[in-house]
Amino acid sequence: MVDTKVTLSGIEFSNPVMAASGTFGYGYEYAELFDINKMGSFSFKGTTLEARFGNPTPRIAECPEGMINSVGLQNPGVEAVINEELPKLKKCFSKPVIANIGGFSIDEYVAVAEKLDKEEQVGILEINISCPNVHGGGLAFGTDKNMAAEVTKNVKAVTTKPVYIKLSPNVTDIVEIARAVEDAGADGISMINTLLGMRINLKTKKPVIANKMGGFSGNAILPVALRMVYQVYEAVNIPIIGIGGISRAEDVIEMMLAGASAVQIGAANLINPFVCSEIVDNLPKVMQKYDIQSLKDIIGGAHNG
Ligand code: FUM
Repeated sequence: MVDTKVTLSGIEFSNPVMAASGTFGYGYEYAELFDINKMGSFSFKGTTLEARFGNPTPRIAECPEGMINSVGLQNPGVEAVINEELPKLKKCFSKPVIANIGGFSIDEYVAVAEKLDKEEQVGILEINISCPNVHGGGLAFGTDKNMAAEVTKNVKAVTTKPVYIKLSPNVTDIVEIARAVEDAGADGISMINTLLGMRINLKTKKPVIANKMGGFSGNAILPVALRMVYQVYEAVNIPIIGIGGISRAEDVIEMMLAGASAVQIGAANLINPFVCSEIVDNLPKVMQKYDIQSLKDIIGGAHNG
């Protein structure tokens, strides 16, 4: 019998398989397809202070081995999340959930964090300083180490829940940003968000996405995500949730060997809504195949020797 349990900031999860923010809504739609309690957890849609309609359409472009999105942080706003979405989630999910928080100013991140801090089911606050699809928010904080540290420090001051900062790969040196948020008090890091990309329609000769560019995710980015997790693991002493191109149990193990304590699955949910369920089912078999008794023991294993 293999052991799939992992721990993040003192919270134990039955396995490291989590769905990534923006690909799993607030959970209850997926609960109609499978028992979402079999996942370790999931991160719900990036939530801002006010409701947001998001960016103009088209905002999705298909690519070989991936996709581009420019959703623009569409969400109903934190009050509606607390009063309407979380009660629905509670009926189908009994575990701590990860609350993904977006913002356009430090005050906004703080205000949303303060409100979600009071929600019992929220286990971790995941602060998204890496959305590539909005101006004046997201990346503006995630590409500047001082701003990243400032957001972290201010959010930490208003919550007792673990604070994980979601980092952008669209920087010259992700290690520098990771170190800055650790020094500012972050309890963990989620990485990576999407890579800025674009497609052009040959018939119209114009960008496919209305906003021209968007975030590229999917299988193609796994090697980039692995490389960055590997680098950051060597530089910080806080847990990493590995994200980027994961679609199989083998990818989960690879990401944990690079240094992740848990993983999030994003774009793959949009291709196969059962993928998280299938990965949870396959994980013990793949662990046995590679002679792994406990997932906790392999975190950062690729760095030894
Ligand atoms: O545009 C979006 O809602 C995506 C957010 C993100 O990638 O963080």
